[in-house]
Amino acid sequence: MLHLSTIITRPVLAALALATVSVVAVHAEDAKPDPALANSLNANDKTAEQDPALLKKDAAVKIEDGKYIDADGHPTFHVTDDGKKLDWYSYSGYRRYHAECHVCHGPDGMGSTYAPALKDSLKHLSYEEFIGILVGGKQDVNAAEQKVMPAFGDNKNVMCYSDDLYVYLKARAAGAIGRIRPSDHEDKPDAAKKTEKECMGF
Ligand code: HEC
Repeated sequence: MLHLSTIITRPVLAALALATVSVVAVHAEDAKPDPALANSLNANDKTAEQDPALLKKDAAVKIEDGKYIDADGHPTFHVTDDGKKLDWYSYSGYRRYHAECHVCHGPDGMGSTYAPALKDSLKHLSYEEFIGILVGGKQDVNAAEQKVMPAFGDNKNVMCYSDDLYVYLKARAAGAIGRIRPSDHEDKPDAAKKTEKECMGF
């Protein structure tokens, strides 16, 4: 017999996961890259593989409670001090990625024989697609060898930090961050502390 607690917990966690997904509407008139929010990257870091088109597309048009937002209204990265300083979410995403994802997807999003290089996947995956795969997983049914992306919808250690993971991997895909261990980062915004408390329960 199924316990009532399991029946209730799952949808609640899934709803929680979705509640943390921030879709911010941006009005067309203020959707221009803000020069004050421009990135300052390390041009000599060959491990970054900078992609000018993506860097332009992902440029921040505004900052909301310490979170940088692009013209599509999705969270984005902000890298300064010649590539040495990351915004809070990219930094947090770097840490979360290396705790939850790198075993399969390789260090720095480089991929492995088992799972794809997310530094390449995030060049084309949308925010909604990324969150959808995190929540529900993905399975390549045609592969000779069965490879499974687990569903993380019930895992707070992943879902409470889905924006962080997205922003970090976007930064890797655009080449804003190379294969570095971040040395400096912006302070943790109060909004991040609040969201974490509400989502994780501490
Ligand atoms: C147990 C191994 C494993 C872990 C852990 C894992 N993944 Fe995956 N992931 C996979 C596999 C395998 C695929 C490819 C599935 C397919 O193509 O059908 C995949 C696919 C993906 C995709 C789609 C990529 C594309 O090109 O379509 C995304 C996005 C993704 N994973 C994100 C993550 C994130 C973020 C984490 C950490 C929170 C994570 N994964 C942890 C195994 C894993």
